[in-house]
Amino acid sequence: MKPRKIVENVYWMGFIDWSNRLFDSLIPLPDGTSYNSYFIKGSEKTALIDTVEPVEIDELMEQLKDVPTLDYLITLHSEQDHSGAIPLVLKKYPNAKVICSQKAVDILLKIVDVPIESIVTVEDGEKLSLGDKTLQFVYSPWVHWPETMVAYLEEDKILFSCDFFGAHIATTDLFVTDKARVYEAAKRYYAEIMMPFRKIVAKNLDKIEKYDIKMIAPSHGQIYRDPSFIIDAHRDWINEKPKNLVVLPYVSMHGSTKKMVDYLTEVLVEKGLTVEQYDMAVTDIGKLAISLVDAATIVIGSPTVLSGPHPAAASATFLANALRPKAQFVSIIGSFGWGGRTLEILSGMIYNIKAEVIQPLLIKGYPKEADFKLIEDMADTIVQKHKEIGLL
Ligand code: FEO
Repeated sequence: MKPRKIVENVYWMGFIDWSNRLFDSLIPLPDGTSYNSYFIKGSEKTALIDTVEPVEIDELMEQLKDVPTLDYLITLHSEQDHSGAIPLVLKKYPNAKVICSQKAVDILLKIVDVPIESIVTVEDGEKLSLGDKTLQFVYSPWVHWPETMVAYLEEDKILFSCDFFGAHIATTDLFVTDKARVYEAAKRYYAEIMMPFRKIVAKNLDKIEKYDIKMIAPSHGQIYRDPSFIIDAHRDWINEKPKNLVVLPYVSMHGSTKKMVDYLTEVLVEKGLTVEQYDMAVTDIGKLAISLVDAATIVIGSPTVLSGPHPAAASATFLANALRPKAQFVSIIGSFGWGGRTLEILSGMIYNIKAEVIQPLLIKGYPKEADFKLIEDMADTIVQKHKEIGLL
């Protein structure tokens, strides 16, 4: 892909990864992704914002082939998918200065092996003149590493946001054309790496509010020509008030837990709640993460196997705990054959979720009449809890 003009003397460069289906060996990528770099040609100086993974360097170097000099290599975020190719770009432009936040220095030195003499730090709010174009750096920590910052191009009113506002999408459309598709991809992206830091995300949203932004250019996905679309979406996702939603990640081996999950779903839906089930044996964990952005209640369904929770249920629980969702209620439901420590183990895995525990329900074998009554009691409690926080 050749460099693509965004506005006069500002170009997209980078790599569109159509085939990657698993980011960081963890995150499913149903739509692939992109690694965006941005080249700015000022009247006096040139700058490249972020690079790509080292394995994708050939494409970036081809895009830079007609760029004789590079004055600044700006790194907004030190994770390797944006910083990894810095040493390779510096080989072509040994005099380029690597511009980063103060907190990025140690990471760049240790993770990427950038030579210290190339590094120049900028302060929060500092400006860098390229002649007729001016970049202002705004520290935006924890979106999603401690050193992250964004850069505002004053004359063109473009906010380069790196991972902030990103979305994993491979497409030839430089700008957002299908908002529905981008909304889901961006929500998945937020859920998987930004949600645990949503209180700081809120502060960063406030911080950029004073800028007159015409476009947001992230490091993954497409450029937003309607910034309010993605900013408003983030404001909704960080809102601490959950939605009237119960998320039910579960596993079932012989159908008993599944029967309980289905009955709980049926009763909750009859009472006006929305329920989303995820069979962890086959679920895309990104879909589960998206639901956790909004859920008021999480109920984990697991059989007991090898004296504990099913490993797939434990994995879902571990993920939910790591993402620190805003859920206010949590419980466990499931079945066992002869015994085990399922409740104890799962309960010990959700220490990050500051939620009230609703009395869990583990039954022996396939659910019977008395068990269905207990499931109805659990549903009544969930309904009552949702009423108490104004969701019903
Ligand atoms: Fe796209 Fe945190 O790297």
